[in-house]
Amino acid sequence: MDREEFRRRAHELVDWMADYLEGVEAYPVRAQVAPGETKAKLPAGPPAKAEPFEEIFADFERDLLPGMTHWQHPSFFAYFPANSSPPSVLAEMLTATLAAQCMLWQTSPAASELEDRVLDWLVGMLGLPADFKGVIQDSATSATLAAILTAREQATDWQANEIGLAALGAKGTELVVYCSTEAHSSIEKGLKVAGLGRRNLRRIETGEDFAMRPEALAAAITEDRAAGRTPACLVASIGGTGTGAMDPLRPLGEICRREGLWLHVDAAWAGSALILPEERGLLDGIELADSFVFNPHKWLFTNFDCTAFFLRDVAALERTLALVPEYLKSPEGRAVTDYQNWSVPLGRRFRALKLWFVIRAYGVEGLRAMLRRHLTWARELHDQVAAAEDFEILSPLRLSLFSFRYHPAHGRAGGDLDEARLEALNTRLLECLNDSGKLYLTQNRVRGRYAIRFVVGQTSTQRRPVLAAWEIIQASARGLEP
Ligand SMILES: Cc1ncc(COP(=O)(O)O)c(C=O)c1O
Repeated sequence: MDREEFRRRAHELVDWMADYLEGVEAYPVRAQVAPGETKAKLPAGPPAKAEPFEEIFADFERDLLPGMTHWQHPSFFAYFPANSSPPSVLAEMLTATLAAQCMLWQTSPAASELEDRVLDWLVGMLGLPADFKGVIQDSATSATLAAILTAREQATDWQANEIGLAALGAKGTELVVYCSTEAHSSIEKGLKVAGLGRRNLRRIETGEDFAMRPEALAAAITEDRAAGRTPACLVASIGGTGTGAMDPLRPLGEICRREGLWLHVDAAWAGSALILPEERGLLDGIELADSFVFNPHKWLFTNFDCTAFFLRDVAALERTLALVPEYLKSPEGRAVTDYQNWSVPLGRRFRALKLWFVIRAYGVEGLRAMLRRHLTWARELHDQVAAAEDFEILSPLRLSLFSFRYHPAHGRAGGDLDEARLEALNTRLLECLNDSGKLYLTQNRVRGRYAIRFVVGQTSTQRRPVLAAWEIIQASARGLEP
């Protein structure tokens, strides 16, 4: 493809992109294809000769697009959103065009310094402690892994990296990490990858409100110490994936300080809402934390991938991850930040650019207004579901997330359905909703009970699709044979 054709095709694609976003409601939200259906349309081998762009693009539209789930559809209420926005997409186009590897300051000084500056902005926007420094990672999973690795090193006097866990004996093989029963699976994955063993993750019980009980944490730490194990790290959740659980940072942080545990806060989804001054109460005690992660790619209108990871003691992270072989040395040395030393992968895309575009294009006030609208619509919907006699809220509204189930004859003596039938009924309801292509929701288990989650957070959603979803849910549910 020569430069002229690139220019022409790029203009055509921008038109396609704008049309797509404008008309995205015409697509089924969740892809309506069977396993293997897309692959069957693709040739078994690559073409030997160059193919015209028209053909490649026609195949994209014909063969691939039907197999895509439309995350930017206003009726996407599943998982957590991966909410993009026009300024973010434009920045991604520039990032792709510059195609820079931003691993060292020298490999793109502007990328390093913009990352430094924009993450300092986020510290102020979220109300994080002023001495937190940030770095962009690809995912919250990677950031939490980096926190667990750093906690592992701190707990082993920086020896695990040197001689391996096995050589440390019990001090290396019996490190314990804590989180609540509501915490995300990325923590367990972190233990697996860090070589700590998933059995050394203690899932601490939660109270009525799904928040970790500090006294249960303290008891678990005491028990582990008595058994000769070494408590190393607590991962607290601000906005657990299933129920939006919010752990109380202050009492948990006090326990961590007393016991010498690294406190990492996973606010992957809910962190974005902390730009709202009225939600800052959730951060009470954050000054006791060692690290904090949130995903602007979930709810701050910035394309995946963009995870913001903050720490107080960056030197500890560097000591854990840094390696500078001859070919990565640069004359600036320690006078500059080489972000490759702050994350597991060496290579890094220019991800700060999209965040900078987004924050500037909307302004902090604009971003707050968008989030407040989501919160208002989620509240309105939640209250309608709560008021319906044949529906039951299983986890109450946390920011813009709640879960519910269809429960006909709820509480009616003689007519009530048992748990197994309720689960079967709601599984069918969810399938029926998602098969309709009109909206997309996902499931969770709340205290053992099958629940349907509802999250408002898609960039282009409005009050209308949110309330329309409720009409569709009721009609579909009441059309099912219990
Ligand atoms: C609370 C929480 N933590 C961590 C993650 C993992 O995020 P990522 O996909 O960025 O690794 C998620 C994903 O939904 C999450 O909800």
